[in-house]
Amino acid sequence: MSALGPDDREALYRVLAARRDVRTGFTDEPVDDAALRRVLAAAHTAPSVGFSQPWDFLVLRDAGLRAELADLAAAQRTAFAASLPAARARAFAGLKVEAIREAPLGVVVTCDPTRGGRHVLGRATQPRMAAHSVAGAVQNLWLAARAEGLGVGWVSFFREREMAALLGERVGLPQHLEIVAYLCVGHVTAFADAPELESAGWARRRPLEWAVHEGTWGTHVGGDALDDALAACASLDVAAGEAAARERLTRMTVPPGALGQVAEVGVQLSGLAGDCPPPVPEPAVVAVFAGDHGVHAQGVTPWPQEVTHQMVANFLAGGAAVNAFATQVGAEVVVVDVGVAASLDPAPGLLPRKIRPGTADMTMGPAMTLAEARAAVVAGVEVARDLVAAGNRLLVTGDMGIANTTASAALVSAFTGTSPEVVTGRGTGIDDATLARKAAVIRTALSRHGLLPSPPREGNPDATRALESSPHAAADDPLGALAAVGGLEIAGIAGLLLGGAALRTPVVVDGVVAGAAALVAAALAPNASQAWIAGHRSVEPAHTLALAHLGLEPLLDLGMRVGEGTGALLAAPLVAAAARALAEVATFDSAGVADKNTTPEAGS
Ligand SMILES: Cc1cc2nc3c(=O)[nH]c(=O)nc-3n(C[C@H](O)[C@H](O)[C@H](O)COP(=O)(O)O)c2cc1C
Repeated sequence: MSALGPDDREALYRVLAARRDVRTGFTDEPVDDAALRRVLAAAHTAPSVGFSQPWDFLVLRDAGLRAELADLAAAQRTAFAASLPAARARAFAGLKVEAIREAPLGVVVTCDPTRGGRHVLGRATQPRMAAHSVAGAVQNLWLAARAEGLGVGWVSFFREREMAALLGERVGLPQHLEIVAYLCVGHVTAFADAPELESAGWARRRPLEWAVHEGTWGTHVGGDALDDALAACASLDVAAGEAAARERLTRMTVPPGALGQVAEVGVQLSGLAGDCPPPVPEPAVVAVFAGDHGVHAQGVTPWPQEVTHQMVANFLAGGAAVNAFATQVGAEVVVVDVGVAASLDPAPGLLPRKIRPGTADMTMGPAMTLAEARAAVVAGVEVARDLVAAGNRLLVTGDMGIANTTASAALVSAFTGTSPEVVTGRGTGIDDATLARKAAVIRTALSRHGLLPSPPREGNPDATRALESSPHAAADDPLGALAAVGGLEIAGIAGLLLGGAALRTPVVVDGVVAGAAALVAAALAPNASQAWIAGHRSVEPAHTLALAHLGLEPLLDLGMRVGEGTGALLAAPLVAAAARALAEVATFDSAGVADKNTTPEAGS
């Protein structure tokens, strides 16, 4: 075989970059038989497991049959749309996902998992390799078609057996075959520069660096995901967007200052967007981080530990308060298992990221190792990355973990220098005796780990606050404090907060558990709080202390203490409204409304 030169390499990379999935702009122009033959020949040169060549190509030209297939796809489109949260459904309504009727050719690419008998080399060990081989053939076809100037659109809105039955009846498709792809093929008016789903804002391309692991999993060039997030947070500059928003606010047809805190949120969103008006932060997703706590053994709550995984099941089944509120505001719910004691079965919406099955009892030793605490934070950063790449524009923190208000209060005590007796709250509604025990447990744990705030000096009128102004251990070593008295879900939320900030994506912070996580995250990256919006104030005293320490003003104060992300979700529409106001409220000049500054006689 002759050597390939630089021109070949350039040509190949050009074709790779120019390949697109095409659903719009197919024309009636007939596809040249010879060109189609070359494209199919390219597919047929694909690598295959054991050289089994398990593919076949069924070329469909009949418009009637294509219309029947299009009807099957339309039904699946409807079913998918019905499954979406409202904000996603609105975006999906504008997307085209197939061109079965318009494209003059349909190519059904099948896989014969039985081809070659039982001794196919490689497939005998890994049966899935047969279908993977067929996917390689599709990719060859796709690239060759692009080189021929033909558009290809892959359609997966089919129930495979339903489609196979129809094709069996109409054109004799053998029923032992798997259908790997339906491809719309034909001439097109244009090839877009970027994926249509990217241009529509449905999803974003993940940076290559996220996908490349050097030597060990999670090690990328420049460090792990947390290193990357901290570096991005350190250089988070919001000045230009904020200035643009403040300038626009002076020209909007509302009295100066009348939008109050909503305007401040708009300024914050503009700062993150680097522009004004900022995009409306939809769709939103609440990530409910779940973990168990060894300190549960100290009797800090009457609820059994199993409630953590039972509630996770409830979230996944759609039956919890977080689900009701998410539906109301059009948000998606995902559950991240960073540390549930029980092992959880796979389920749609569950992200299995377990670092360990629950923490250890913080009164007996550290809740977790430093490495585990870091791994849970990294998991949170990676969840933020994936959710943002999936097209979400607003992240909402959620949490589940029986006994997690104990860990949260301990962290708030350590980071704010407030005594355990002041930070400790009633969590799910504990009685006086349990409250006293909980505070004592927190005191014991903090003391054991050298995190207990210094006692007040004599004569101090405020006996509840620490007097020592020197930096305490928690601020010096946030991950150490997290490992000592924190929780896995708290660590995960800290990661979500940092990951969101690193991607300039606003994060709505829920109650006391998220507040504790925010203290850890802010100690790691002070700049990151520019991306955080306090959704509400919970009744837990530690939450108010955390918010004050962070300088965050909650949007809502509803006397809530559910957790799960409920309070933050209720604030999501306010955040969206803040962006919409900047985009849609007319300016005095554009609306022809007199500005009182320029026309003093106009009255108040
Ligand atoms: C296995 C597979 C199935 C796909 N199914 C669909 C589909 O049903 N509808 C659709 O519009 N696009 C489908 N696509 C296309 C993807 O949306 C597209 O590849 C992606 O958005 C990236 O865009 P690009 O191919 O133009 O780079 C599919 C792609 C693959 C690889």
